[in-house]
Amino acid sequence: MSKPGDFTIHATDNLARRATLTTAHGEIQTPIFMPVGTQGTVKSLTPLDLEEMEAQIILGNTYHLYLRPGDDLVARRGGLHKFANWKRPILTDSGGFQVFSLEGIRKLSEEGVEFRSYIDGSKHFFSPEKAIDIQKNLGSDIMMVLDECVGYGNDRAYTEKSLEMTTRWAQRCRDHYPKGSGDQLMFGIVQGGFHKDLRDRSLEQLREIDFEGFAIGGLSVGESTEEMYDILHHIAPKLPSNKPRYLMGVGTPLDILEGVSAGVDMFDCVLPSRNARNGTLFTSLGKVNIKRAEYAEDDSPLDPNCGCYTCRNFTKAYLRHLYMAKELLSYRLNTYHNLYYYLDLMKQVRQAIENGTFRELKAKVEAAYGPK
Ligand code: GUN
Ligand code: ZN
Repeated sequence: MSKPGDFTIHATDNLARRATLTTAHGEIQTPIFMPVGTQGTVKSLTPLDLEEMEAQIILGNTYHLYLRPGDDLVARRGGLHKFANWKRPILTDSGGFQVFSLEGIRKLSEEGVEFRSYIDGSKHFFSPEKAIDIQKNLGSDIMMVLDECVGYGNDRAYTEKSLEMTTRWAQRCRDHYPKGSGDQLMFGIVQGGFHKDLRDRSLEQLREIDFEGFAIGGLSVGESTEEMYDILHHIAPKLPSNKPRYLMGVGTPLDILEGVSAGVDMFDCVLPSRNARNGTLFTSLGKVNIKRAEYAEDDSPLDPNCGCYTCRNFTKAYLRHLYMAKELLSYRLNTYHNLYYYLDLMKQVRQAIENGTFRELKAKVEAAYGPK
């Protein structure tokens, strides 16, 4: 019997890995994409929709659920799985990123971070211990340590001091929830900005702390694609190879394939769900902007190669009409398709790694989405 935290690699293709991670709510097959359900819901979809498209794990946010409805309220209802009727695994981000990226921050100190609620302006404080307590209340399968996500413009001295503090916070998170004290897994987060030696240092320090997985944070924060790929290829292959590797908040289909090629196992991003609501759709033939006039009388499916409910039942002309009329169904059908596309792409990735044809798959997607 496998137990939470077990990670088994089944096949590799160059640096790409095909593996299984066991959590308290079941196994996930990697490489994997995790739909974002910030408020305990993947916007416009039901858990049934997500099960149907074979989503294996979704993401929730400590920051949002702490502010509303409150993690205590969720705990009193048996945790987030029960509250939201989602039976498969959940990963919760620590709030580090949200506190630093949303307005209303903040006083940052060794002790933690003070911030103002984006809802009503009230003052709150997250310490590393508090971030873990909240995630314990939510009952996620994978908890993330509290970190500082250093923005793109910061200088080396700031980045260095910040990563040292992120390491101390990571140690405090682990001390607050020692390995084996429960079924929840804890992942460390590598920071260090765009300095390779600082990334190395962050990783070396985090390795000393025993985490069940390692994430790469602080990417996709305003840098160019070239800069992101440079750091990604430098650090991802150095993360412990016998544990899951998670690239946070990334990205486009091409970014994800780049991550897989560097040895990353897990991804999350708001892009497919957020873009769906703006009418930007990801297809096997590239991006489709459904509001364009050329689709007004286009009776073909959105993606002729997609088996999703949206593509099997509706035309581009109808999807454009729903979008222009701002109908609720537009959000739902578009989100359904985009997430289906991402999840299906990951299924193809897993198959390609097993077959040793990942490079060919990557070339095919690059052809559809154009060279960067
Ligand atoms: N999501 C995207 N990037 C980050 C990061 O650097 N830290 C955390 N906690 N979440 C993220
Ligand atoms: Zn579709």
